[in-house]
Parts: sequence; structure tokens; C-alpha cells
Amino acid sequence: MLVLTVAGILAALSGVVLYFKLKSMRLVDRVKLQMAIHAKLRIPQLFQLTGLDTRMKPKLTQFTASNGYKILLPSPFTVAVNEILKFKVREDDVFIVAYPKAGTTWMQEIVWLICNDGNIKEANKQLLTLRSPFLEIVDCHLRNGFQSLENWSRNKQRVIKTHLPYELLPEDIRKGKRCKIIYVARNPKDLCVSYYHFHRCSKMLKDPGTWPEFFANFCSHRVGFGDWFDHTLKFWEKYQEDKEKIYFETYENLKKDLRKEVESMSKFLEKKLSEQQLDAISEHCTFDSMSKNRSTNMSMLGQNSISTKKSKFMRKGQVGDWRNYFTINQSLAFDELYQEKSKERDLIFLLEIEF
Ligand code: A3P
Repeated sequence: MLVLTVAGILAALSGVVLYFKLKSMRLVDRVKLQMAIHAKLRIPQLFQLTGLDTRMKPKLTQFTASNGYKILLPSPFTVAVNEILKFKVREDDVFIVAYPKAGTTWMQEIVWLICNDGNIKEANKQLLTLRSPFLEIVDCHLRNGFQSLENWSRNKQRVIKTHLPYELLPEDIRKGKRCKIIYVARNPKDLCVSYYHFHRCSKMLKDPGTWPEFFANFCSHRVGFGDWFDHTLKFWEKYQEDKEKIYFETYENLKKDLRKEVESMSKFLEKKLSEQQLDAISEHCTFDSMSKNRSTNMSMLGQNSISTKKSKFMRKGQVGDWRNYFTINQSLAFDELYQEKSKERDLIFLLEIEF
């Protein structure tokens, strides 16, 4: 009896210590710990899919990575950056890189299918985030986080999504390791509108405020993942240096002729697909089809992740929606900024993106 009482008191004391320890931790670390415990206990539940604790108030963090690179990130995205820098890249890896809202999800589905013989049946069986992990929050999506990615079957090509800028990609890539990178760029005006709406519905991001407020923050890079120009122009530069490694795609080109782009990317990825397979991938990846598809439309993530009352992940999927948001003055101011930034870098590719 005495032993039981002592054990009870000790258990209660450890509970109190644990409670204060958890309370003193930064929320983001607490969420990470919780996720690790869930992963250890092998609890496959929504929390792991969304990676979010609804109590966690999203905010932006000015983060300095271990290589000294500074970037403004939504706080849940800071957790893995230093691990990502050390991530071991394989030669057959395909990285889908894009600034948020450029068409990352779209590209993931296309590339996953190109790399998997256009196997739509298989694609429909599993959520896209499980087939093509999101590097920054891989701990949330895969049961054993980075470990799962490291132990990924050698027979299955890894198609990895990231929004990180070139400077924060795994060091292996920047040291010259061969792999394939597909970068997706989008007309920044449309991207800004899409990002605004995503802030309205994503529980992982800060409330965007009004449209003019968000527009001002975007132009002065006070949004997650920082300066759109830096992000995109850096990859444009890198693409010029190594076109075998980097494929530079635009949202607008995908919209213009999806079939042609799918074929061109399959060549870049050195995949031989039949005409029928190319047709099937293109049909499967239209906005209409992907927005109805539960493995790609993010509806499985539930209200804890995206509040569909405010907006949808698959929102409009159009080119030129910015015209419904930008005032004439905002548009002129953005054009000026755009000219200035492109001139600075002596790059003209953005002019090819239809405004
Ligand atoms: P909108 O908000 O303009 O509709 P990301 O995946 O990088 O977050 O980008 C999301 C944007 O891509 C959203 O843009 C979404 O609707 C659009 N999108 C996703 N799949 C698409 C598809 N198959 N065709 C066209 N647009 C697509």
C-alpha cells in the first residue's frame, strides 16, 4: 500500500514537472515534440497529416539558418531548415521547388505521375503529400519524418516538394550533386492574390489583413518565404547555368498547353511515356479534375488545416485573376518594382510571363 502511495506521489510530481516543462517551451517546439510522440506511438491521425495544433498561433519568424542565410518564414516551417541543409540527396531525386502559390501541388501531381509510368490508379489511392513529401514539414506528413524520407525505397523515386529558396536547399545540391530540380514560377500578381486567399484560409499562416495590407507586405517581402523576386530570379540564374539539372516552368505555360509541357518535362526527367500515358496525365491534371480529386485537393486535411469557409486550396486556377484585385495604382506600382528588379538582375524572363 505504502509503495503504491509513493509511486502515485512520484507519478503526480513527474506530471507537474512535465506540465511546467511543456509550458515553458516555445509553442513550435511543443508541437514538434507532440508530433514526435505521435510518430513514436505510430498514431496515424489527422494531426500528423496537418502537422498543426489549432492552439498554435501562426506567426512569422525571422530565421537565420546554420549557414547564415536569413529568411522570414511561417514559424512551423523553421523547425526543419537546418536538418534540410544536411539532407542526403540521391541522384534520381526530383525536387519540385516553387514560391508558395506558384502551382507547386499541380507540378507535384504531374511529376509524380511522370515518374510512376502515369499510374493514375496508384496516385488516387494515396494523398499527394504522402507520395510527394513536403520537405519543410515532412515531420507532419510522414510517420517517421525525415527518417522515412531517408529510408524511402530505392525502387521508388523521391519527388520532393519545397518552397525554400536556392540558398536553403540541401548542401549536397549546392555542392554539385546530380539530381533533377523543377522550378515553377507564376506571374507574381496572380501569385500574390492566391497567397492572400491562402492566408485567409490556412491555419498555418497569419491572418493577411485587408487586401491592400497584404499587397504592401508582399511588395516589401514581409510575408513567409520572403522576397518573391529573390526566390524566382535566383532559380532563373541557376537554370541558365545548368539546364540538365534545372527545368524552369511557368504556371502560365502549363495553363496554355499542359500536354506539351508534360511531354517536355518527361523528356527532361528521361522518362519514356506513350502518347496515351501523356494524354492521361494531362487529363488527370486539369484544374477541374484535380479540384475534385480527394488525393490532391487537400480536403482530407480537414478544417484544422484549411478553413474552407473562407477560401479553398483549389480556389480558381486561373491566369489573370489579379485584375479583380489590383487597383490601377497597385498595378502601376508593382510594374515599376518589377522593372526595377528585373533590370537590376539583367534578366528578362519575367516579361515572358503574361501580365
Ligand atoms: P489559385 O489560388 O489562383 O486558384 P500551390 O500548390 O503552389 O500552393 O499553388 C496553389 C495554386 O495553384 C492555386 O491557385 C490553385 O488553385 C492552383 N492550382 C492547383 N492545381 C491546379 C491545376 N491543376 N490547374 C490550375 N491551377 C491549379
